[in-house]
Amino acid sequence: MSERVSTGVPGLDDMLNGGLIPGRVYLVKGAPGTGKTTLAMHFAMAGVSRGENVLYVTLEEPADNIKQDFGKMGFDVYNSNFFLIDATPTTERYVLLEDIFETFAKNLEKLTDAILEKFGAIHFSRLVVDPITMLKMTSSTELDYRRAFLKFIKTMMRLKVTTLITSEMERTDVEEYLVSGVIELRTFEIKGVLERAVKITKFRGSGFDRVIRPFEITDRGMVVHPDKTLF
Ligand SMILES: Nc1ncnc2c1ncn2[C@@H]1O[C@H](COP(=O)(O)OP(=O)(O)OP(=O)(O)O)[C@@H](O)[C@H]1O
Ligand SMILES: [Mg+2]
Repeated sequence: MSERVSTGVPGLDDMLNGGLIPGRVYLVKGAPGTGKTTLAMHFAMAGVSRGENVLYVTLEEPADNIKQDFGKMGFDVYNSNFFLIDATPTTERYVLLEDIFETFAKNLEKLTDAILEKFGAIHFSRLVVDPITMLKMTSSTELDYRRAFLKFIKTMMRLKVTTLITSEMERTDVEEYLVSGVIELRTFEIKGVLERAVKITKFRGSGFDRVIRPFEITDRGMVVHPDKTLF
């Protein structure tokens, strides 16, 4: 088997026949609170623990919150190989860090250029954009967005950076068509209890587990049960 990139989530690599294919772009989709950021942090930290440089662009959850919450879970958020860029549009930051908001969060093309510029100084093996949702809203037409998204993917593939983007949108057709793989996170109500589950809906160039598998989020993060089913 060719070399794979670990998602960092126990059990999830089994569903992906060993992990992600390096240098490609993947989408993690799911409703609010389903665990997208948690999965993305596992992915980021799996790189950091191997001594790789990881770039994480946060567009909705402030970087301080991420550090606080995931630091508590035991993630190495203060590691100097972890580059967390806060591109959230709070009023205060709008003033203080106007150029960060301008370059990373204005639209998908600007984000692509800003990432490319970052690679001029440092090579990152992994990239996270969490979430892509607002950038989509800044595009004037669907065609514009599709073009920008394709340019984003091509740029990341050229940079050979394994990329994970998240989206909370229900309709993610454009993204789903263009990315190399889709991981969907869901919650179900079973006998009055909220259960979490993960489904792989697309994985170019690889076989994958077609069974929807349950997972948990605990104070140590996410764990997928690749040998269990929902019922
Ligand atoms: N220690 C913990 N034990 C159990 N569940 C936890 C723990 N810490 C966080 N969670 C759960 O993890 C979920 C949050 O996951 P996460 O922030 O990754 O979701 P998300 O999909 O990124 O959400 P959003 O769309 O709001 O960004 C919440 O439902 C939260 O209750
Ligand atoms: Mg999130």
